[in-house]
Amino acid sequence: MNKASLISIASYVPSKVLSNYDLEKIVDTSDEWITKRTGIKERHIAQNEITSDLGTKAARVAIRRSGLKESEIDAIICATLSPDHFCMPSTATKIAKNLELNPGIMAFDISAACTGFIYLLELAKSLVQSGIKKNVLIVGAEKVSSIIDYTDRSTCILFGDGAGAGVVSLSDENEIIDTHTASDGRYGELLITPAPGSLYPSSQEVLDKKLNFLKMSGNEVFKIAVQTLTKDVLEIMQKNKIASEEIDLFIPHQANLRIIEAVKQRLDFKDEQCVVTIHKYGNTSSASIPMAMNDAYEDGRLKNGSLILLDAFGGGFTWGSALLKFGGKDFKDLE
Ligand code: COA
Repeated sequence: MNKASLISIASYVPSKVLSNYDLEKIVDTSDEWITKRTGIKERHIAQNEITSDLGTKAARVAIRRSGLKESEIDAIICATLSPDHFCMPSTATKIAKNLELNPGIMAFDISAACTGFIYLLELAKSLVQSGIKKNVLIVGAEKVSSIIDYTDRSTCILFGDGAGAGVVSLSDENEIIDTHTASDGRYGELLITPAPGSLYPSSQEVLDKKLNFLKMSGNEVFKIAVQTLTKDVLEIMQKNKIASEEIDLFIPHQANLRIIEAVKQRLDFKDEQCVVTIHKYGNTSSASIPMAMNDAYEDGRLKNGSLILLDAFGGGFTWGSALLKFGGKDFKDLE
């Protein structure tokens, strides 16, 4: 059977930094509270850039690092909860245009919130293994700040903007070994951006009630996230007969340091196996895993052939995990 491999990774982070001290001036919070409860120290905010700009910048580098030409990419899928437009055109088609990919290629967005990158890996793997596509560009791009209420201290401290991208291609080695994607719509109300949409089309009432902003029942989400992720990660390791000490890097979705620590301890991962970037970027939703992967790639921890485990949890609820061997060249060997 054909094998699919993630053959490159890249990210883009907008330059403006919003620190916990900056937030102290906007809402009733403190650096101490944010650091203790979340592990976040700062996040980056896009100013004159939109989601497709962030995605384009990450994707351009991901294609270059894959060694492919733009003309060889035959599909692009973008995961985002903060698309340029809520209906159309998709952010993926705008990134494709910006990159001058072949007109006519398949391009679409998916909505899987913070689990977006795991869903992307599963979709890209399926398309490549089935022989339908050869080189699929996957992008997690977020301007989460565009749906954040900067008077709500329970959410505005958590999120940041950024993008991550990779290319999934046919390969004989370093395959995407397994992916698991899941959802449970019964919890949709706990993490939701109520409008605009068919339920609440744009109106003065939507604006007055701030229904266009992200709302989260943080404490309930927290508890379910820890339980679900622990079970999900354990299952993918057991299914593939992999023990925690065999994993080179555990790269979880970066939502809260306490969630990462809880899963890490329950599954016996050591500090050096675990990639943590939440202090620098906050929660960048679908971009968080590829951004963390890229940090580990550029500092030399993620290498060709590294066995990595990813997990994520987000609105929907959605969750999932992925086990793969990284198929890109070592960062030091890039031209
Ligand atoms: N600064 C200071 N105090 C704050 C605050 C802030 N930014 N945000 C909330 N508080 C207060 C609350 O008002 C509450 O006060 P009260 O006890 O007087 O009512 C208190 O802190 C505790 O709030 P709570 O919501 O129980 O805190 P928490 O320990 O659950 O931490 C989150 C809040 C949001 C950091 C945490 O619940 C979380 O990370 N949730 C999950 C996020 C997540 O995983 N999302 C997944 C997918 S994106």
